[in-house]
Amino acid sequence: MSNIKFVDPLITEKEKGHLKRAFNSGWLSYGPYVEKFEKKLSDTLGAKFGISVNNGTSAILLILMSLNLKKGDEIIVPSFCYISPVHMIKLMGLKPIPVDIRLDNLQIDTDQIANKVNKKTKAILLIHNYGSICNYEKIIKIAKKKNIFVIEDTSEVILSKRYDDYVGNGKKFNKEKYLSYASFHASKTMITGEGGMILTNSKKICLKLKILRNHGQKINKPYYYNMTGGNFRLSNLLASIGYSQILRSKKIIKKKTEINSIYEKKLANNKNFTLMKDPNNFLPVRWGFPILFKKQKDKNKIMKILNNKSTLCRPGFYSLNQLKHLNIYKNKISKKNDFKNAEIATKNVLVLPMNNKLNNPELNLICSKIKNYFKT
Ligand SMILES: Cc1ncc(COP(=O)(O)O)c(C=O)c1O
Repeated sequence: MSNIKFVDPLITEKEKGHLKRAFNSGWLSYGPYVEKFEKKLSDTLGAKFGISVNNGTSAILLILMSLNLKKGDEIIVPSFCYISPVHMIKLMGLKPIPVDIRLDNLQIDTDQIANKVNKKTKAILLIHNYGSICNYEKIIKIAKKKNIFVIEDTSEVILSKRYDDYVGNGKKFNKEKYLSYASFHASKTMITGEGGMILTNSKKICLKLKILRNHGQKINKPYYYNMTGGNFRLSNLLASIGYSQILRSKKIIKKKTEINSIYEKKLANNKNFTLMKDPNNFLPVRWGFPILFKKQKDKNKIMKILNNKSTLCRPGFYSLNQLKHLNIYKNKISKKNDFKNAEIATKNVLVLPMNNKLNNPELNLICSKIKNYFKT
């Protein structure tokens, strides 16, 4: 296999130009690009306020710090997801309550959420896997009925649209009970290297997050602190890269849409694996392109073929109940057979690259390697 990489960020003259400008300005920590980036991203996605942070993990930690939660409070999460938000829930002394996923889209099964909600449930954390989303209508209903927070992790789905709304702008949710955030790690759709952003439509929440992000220091009152916070700030240098990425967002969307269409067309209707089934009126901008194989043996062999020169594809996540240190069964809500689909996904998911440097011959090569495996 040629040297195609899963993580291969495209850095253009635009990013280099803005980074140089930020560097030459002398503003290396906080600086004008931070607010420019926050405003440009929140305006582009259609949310009122953006609060930049130093990575996606800090984003969810800061959000959890801002919600006035008590030790032992519960947060609903998908049982199959990237670990970072789940670890932040644990570090805060809260309980992650996993809900199984659907196999047709690898997202949280919204039909199973209501069963797991009780007096201690404070939020549903929607960690959207691989650039798709779950049943929003159902989430809106549950959150309203139970009066709990909805937090969307859009790290793997940013720039995707549903009914003309960018995912994560929160327009359909109660603004005092909703937040979204994303990571801009080098593997993501939008990058700053390390970095993240929280979006909210509530001025009150925005202000609190900005105070917590800066050690809890009262706005315009140096060295006076009225909350316990930390340093979660994004540097001016990295914000300048993020800013230029938004200026290029239309191109990023176009390229990712093309890659997605090629995979969907070339890999359609194969009895040995299935692709994601997206909701109606959804325009995906995927972080990675997942395939769910029927047999684990096939996934393992194909992964070996594709990864023989470089890390071209990745396996799926472990189901949270399989990560012993999380002690999922101690929560009294989860039972042994609750995570059947997540366990299947763990065995049988393989994720193909979606980076913006991929060209047609490379995509054709990847798809033909997969299809040819089943012909021999
Ligand atoms: C869904 C999701 N959430 C959170 C993170 C954590 O972000 P970061 O690596 O910027 O801390 C990532 C990826 O890294 C992710 O994919």
